[in-house]
Formats: sequence, structure tokens, C-alpha cells
Amino acid sequence: MRLAHCNNFHDFRELARRRLPGPIFNYIDGAADDEVTYRRNTASFDDCDLLPSVLRGVSDVDLSVTIMGQKLALPVYCSPTALQRLFHHDGERAVAAAASAFGTMFGVSSLGTVSLEELRRAHATPQVYQFYFHKDRGLNRAMLQRAKDARVDVMMLTVDSITGGNRERDLRTGFSIPFRLTLAGIVQFAIKPAWGLNYVMHERFSLPQLDAHVDFGSDALSIGRYFTDMLDPSMTWDDVEEMVRDWDGQFCLKGVMSVDDAKRAAAIGCTGIVLSNHGGRQLDGSRAAFDQLAEVVDAVGDRLDVMMDGGVQRGTHVLKALSLGAKAVGLGRYYLFPLAAAGQAGVERALALIKAELERDMKLMGCRTISELSRANLRFR
Ligand SMILES: Cc1cc2nc3c(=O)[nH]c(=O)nc-3n(C[C@H](O)[C@H](O)[C@H](O)COP(=O)(O)O)c2cc1C
Repeated sequence: MRLAHCNNFHDFRELARRRLPGPIFNYIDGAADDEVTYRRNTASFDDCDLLPSVLRGVSDVDLSVTIMGQKLALPVYCSPTALQRLFHHDGERAVAAAASAFGTMFGVSSLGTVSLEELRRAHATPQVYQFYFHKDRGLNRAMLQRAKDARVDVMMLTVDSITGGNRERDLRTGFSIPFRLTLAGIVQFAIKPAWGLNYVMHERFSLPQLDAHVDFGSDALSIGRYFTDMLDPSMTWDDVEEMVRDWDGQFCLKGVMSVDDAKRAAAIGCTGIVLSNHGGRQLDGSRAAFDQLAEVVDAVGDRLDVMMDGGVQRGTHVLKALSLGAKAVGLGRYYLFPLAAAGQAGVERALALIKAELERDMKLMGCRTISELSRANLRFR
């Protein structure tokens, strides 16, 4: 199987599965507890149908949207994800270059493996910095200032990870940073020697957003313990309000789900929220963002930009979310599997495929611009 034969999410996932050692594949593919929320995320899109209009003169389709002051050529963006150089040696460099080639936004995680400054210098396309809130307030201020100095376009504070999710696939394989593999996990690495060779022949693994503050190099701290020991579970709305004031720019909360929280986000000056359950990786049994979308859009859609992520695998999933009122849709595993399968070329192929699907599906829906999509073209079963 080769990249040229990948035509959808499932093909990329399969190619990634063949190339990655099991513990790394399962880190990407897995989710919390029984993975109920993970499955519901994609299934939620099947509970409604698109209702097309015909004969509308659709030779030209404009897929662009503006979110949080950023003009994107596509209504999808690459949501921030951790540890990308473990999946492919080019990691964030490949994702940023592909996002830039398609005129869309990409996120850099606090647990990213390439520095936000390097990516900012390399690409003019809108860049999000995904922030985790630490117990050490001095560290938070330093990280905020660093992102400001780098001229990041959007600050995105993740609020659904106040403690780490229970990822049982990782417990089984022993996946952690630094690696603490179980015997079964070691065997999985041994049978994928190409990955190992590639890994040791490229730049040493590091977490440049945090390296100056946190020692992951020795056995001192694992990423799991980073969440429990260093992040601040006492974080409240007052802390976030202060952060919004200090940032003084586009500020987005990722992982808001309830209407009350969405209203609170608007009240403290956030310019965007992402409805998200972290790809099912945190609270299993929590609602899918698509199921919750209409309620939140109705409550705050006129006060801030509402986005969503989780389970998106097709252009039609994106059109359904936009029809309900999302301003744009985040992609996670949709671009991570292609990254693992083939680096920048993989991510570019995945973005090209979803762009082609969106263009085709917009025409079939009888819509020329994203603003022409509405609830009138959806029916729930
Ligand atoms: C391997 C992996 C790592 C992730 N790392 C982060 C992260 O560091 N910060 C964050 O806010 N979200 C992170 N996420 C969540 C994504 O940003 C996004 O919310 C989620 O992947 C969307 O679901 P999907 O993968 O079904 O599209 C991660 C997701 C995956 C799959």
C-alpha cells in the first residue's frame, strides 16, 4: 500500500498502522476508557442528512472562512497535537508546511516537538499556540510572553485536560515519554526497525516549548506526570480572565461544551471557543461536539466564533457542522495518520482530498459560499 492509493481517512490510518510501532500507532488511535465518546464523535454525523438544492449555478465555489480575525482558504484547520516528530521525523514542520500550502491555520501544542518561533518564521499562514495552564504562574507568564514575542495569531487554552485521561491502550503498551515500554511494547518496536532507524538518524527528540522549564530528558518526569504534577487543577474562570487580559488579542478556549461555559467564555472576552472532547481522549461518555453544537451556537454564536472538532473524516461531516453554525472545523487524526504515513506529502494529500470533497459536496448541495449553508439544508432523523 502506498500514499497514492490512499483515498480516505481509513486508507491513511491503515498505512500509518503498517509503518508505526504499535505503541505509537495506539497512542494516536486510542482514546479514554471504553472509547465510547471516540466512536460517537464520528457516528454523530450520521444522525442527520444533508438536503441539497439543485439548479443553483455552482460553477465556482468559495471555501474560505474568517475565524477569530484570520482568513482561511478552507473551513478546516489542523488542530494542535502533541509529539508530532514521534509520528514522522518532520513532525510539526510537515504539518505547518502543508497547512500553509493550503492557506489554512495550524496549531502548535505546548507538547510540540518543533519550536513555535521556528514555525512562525517559516510560514505566514495563521498559527495557533495551544496552552496548558501550569501551577507555576511565573512559567505561565513566561510562556504567554514568548508566544506574544513570536507573534502567534491565536492563543488557544485547552480546558478539558485538567487531569490526564485514562488511555488504557497506552497502559497496555507502556507508551510514555520517556519510553517505559512493556515487553509487548518492546516487541512492537522491534518488528518495525525502519521506524527506529529513521528515529535515531534524525534530530534528537525534544519539547522546545517546555524544555527550558521541565526536565523530560532524564527519568525525572513523564508526560503523564507532567499533567498531574505540573498542570493546575485549581484553575478557575478568574485565572482565565486574567490570561485573556494579558494576551490582549485573539483568545480561544478549547474543550468548552456547556452553554453556561460558552456564555462565560464570551463574558470574559474570549473571541472563540472550540467544542471538543479532545478526540475522546479525556472524559469518556462525554457528549460529541457535533451533538452539542446547535445549542451552543444558538446561545453565543453572535458573540464569539464557535468551532468544533472530533471525529471528522469527510467533507460531508464538515458541511454538516458548518450548516449547524460552526465557523470552522478542527482536524486531528485526519491529518496525523497521513503525517505518520508519509510526512508532508501525506498531510498535503489528505488536505487535497478533503478540499476536493468539500468543493464537490458544496456543488452537489447547490451552495457557492460557506455562508449559504444553513440548518434549512439539514434534517435530523
Ligand atoms: C495524538 C493526539 C495528540 C493530541 N495532543 C493534543 C494537545 O497536545 N493539545 C490539545 O489541546 N489537544 C490535543 N489533541 C486533541 C486534538 O487537538 C483534537 O481535539 C482531536 O484530535 C480531535 O479529534 P479527532 O482526532 O477525532 O479529529 C490530541 C489528539 C491526538 C489524537
